[in-house]
Amino acid sequence: PPSQFISSKSHTENLIETLPTREGWATPLVLYNNCWIRANSLKDSMAVKDRLKPRPDDTILAAHPKCGTTWLKALLFTIVNRSRYTFTDHPLLTSRPHQVVPYLALRPGDLDIVETLPSPRLLSTHLPLSLLPSTVSTLGCRIVCVCRDPKDAFISRWHFEKRMNQGMSIGMDEAFTMFCEGCSPYGPFWDRYLEYWKESLARPDEVMFLRYEEIVSDTPKVIRKLASFLRVPFTQEEDSNGVVEQVEDLCGFTSLSNIAANRPSRVQHEHAGDKLVVDPTSLFRKGKVGDWVNHMSKDMGDRMDQLVAEKFKGSGLIF
Ligand code: A3P
Repeated sequence: PPSQFISSKSHTENLIETLPTREGWATPLVLYNNCWIRANSLKDSMAVKDRLKPRPDDTILAAHPKCGTTWLKALLFTIVNRSRYTFTDHPLLTSRPHQVVPYLALRPGDLDIVETLPSPRLLSTHLPLSLLPSTVSTLGCRIVCVCRDPKDAFISRWHFEKRMNQGMSIGMDEAFTMFCEGCSPYGPFWDRYLEYWKESLARPDEVMFLRYEEIVSDTPKVIRKLASFLRVPFTQEEDSNGVVEQVEDLCGFTSLSNIAANRPSRVQHEHAGDKLVVDPTSLFRKGKVGDWVNHMSKDMGDRMDQLVAEKFKGSGLIF
């Protein structure tokens, strides 16, 4: 009888089959816990809540994709490890930022790697706070959240998807509609920004909320702020020796995009699933504020601004 039939599928697999799926971006997205996650990293993302064992001295970079994840990984790694490496013999001269600061669950096996790292760990995620173990908050783990004007984040996303999909991505109008409906990788973007914004208000000493635009406009100021936040402030001696500027230069767009590990000549394609291929060069496009005007109409820009204003109303978060 059917009641005695034992399914070979796991509980997670059965659950996944019931979740809404949408096509359009380079790979299908599945809606789980109000977050559109690529189907090929869904299981691993779902496992984070149970399998990640947060430690009180963890620092987690919580970045919405295309908002400066790569840059912040480089900056955080360089700031916290600056007594270990010189600027002429630095891991970021030979490795990509994504190799030195691991994701929690972008590829199968990420979580295993994360658990083997010595403390204090520097980790990163695109996941919502609600998909991380609640001990991230109760243990007081530090979080650095970076967000960006959604218009620029959208344009960055659109270009990125085209490159991942060998130029075959969806058109601008369809992409815009999906993004504004909240359906983009790790979207809705406004919910992600809001969750971490609220966490930064609740735990101001432990959660730092940054905007891509403020890092662009005064990088040394943000580098100093990050160092103080991570309890490794720059000494006067470091300051007068120009260490802050050295961190800025090493992690800057020009420097990072020119190192061999980030050039196509040493293509080390990352497979985040069967179809998805990320060429390291696609992580570095322009690195500018306001590039959306070159790709979107003013009307689209206004519509997105209005949407964001409605979503953020009353939160104190303004773009
Ligand atoms: P653009 O597509 O607008 O150029 P993420 O790392 O979260 O995927 O974000 C990618 C965006 O950050 C891209 O924006 C990329 O060019 C920009 N970026 C990458 N490295 C940077 C750096 N060192 N400084 C400034 N911007 C950077």
